Amino acid sequence: MRKKIIAGNWKMNIKPSETAALVKAVAEATAAFADKVEIVCCTPAIDVPAAVAAAAGTKVGVGTENCHWEDHGAYTGEISTGMIVDAGANYVITGHSERRQYFGETDETVNKRTRAAIAAGLTVMMCVGETLAEREADLVEEVVGRQLKVGLKDVTPADCAKLVIAYEPVWAIGTGKTATPEQAQDVHAFIRATLAKLFGAETAETVRIQYGGSMKPGNAAELLAKRDIDGGLIGGAALKAADFAGIISAAAAAQ
Ligand code: PGA
Repeated sequence: MRKKIIAGNWKMNIKPSETAALVKAVAEATAAFADKVEIVCCTPAIDVPAAVAAAAGTKVGVGTENCHWEDHGAYTGEISTGMIVDAGANYVITGHSERRQYFGETDETVNKRTRAAIAAGLTVMMCVGETLAEREADLVEEVVGRQLKVGLKDVTPADCAKLVIAYEPVWAIGTGKTATPEQAQDVHAFIRATLAKLFGAETAETVRIQYGGSMKPGNAAELLAKRDIDGGLIGGAALKAADFAGIISAAAAAQ
């Protein structure tokens, strides 16, 4: 049985001075569900020390929103996986569509970041998903299939213990438009079938696949009830502890 994983993606929204209050509020509001659901806050890198301190002694995990593939060096503005580990975080997001869209992220760089994260012992949530134009052109499987194959190149079945895939249709992110549970389940099933081709069916059954894109307390239960939807990557609704906890409570009920 795959344990549901609900991760907040704070994006560029919470200041270091605001971080402890949000992490503590999340920990308090979700304590009753923490045995059933893996709970994570992925924060701006500069918030990580405050988030790790506030999460100490709770079941809330902390992660970042990106990582570089080199251990150290002349890469202005980047953070290494070693730095993330050293700061006490355990998770990282790679390949978010905003990184792909605004910061030149490619399937190849997503692959490098993903492999570096796994090698460092981090749990990596690698994002895939199509744009509206790609969906309308019937290219969902082609696009998501390519993002998976290239993004997971040289990742081994053993590495999959540290791998989570986040399916985030770009047209549903921050737009209030959610994929229907059926639309999401169709792509999640395709992702699992692709993972089975890459790593074998047994391993594919163990990999958790999150849905992301306007998930909120009101729609989480029906999404999380689907066979291949094993959690959520949450943007806007992760910024308010009560909303985030509402999603986590739905995940606990679906477990
Ligand atoms: P959203 O963002 O929940 O605000 O749509 C999800 C994400 O981008 O991870």
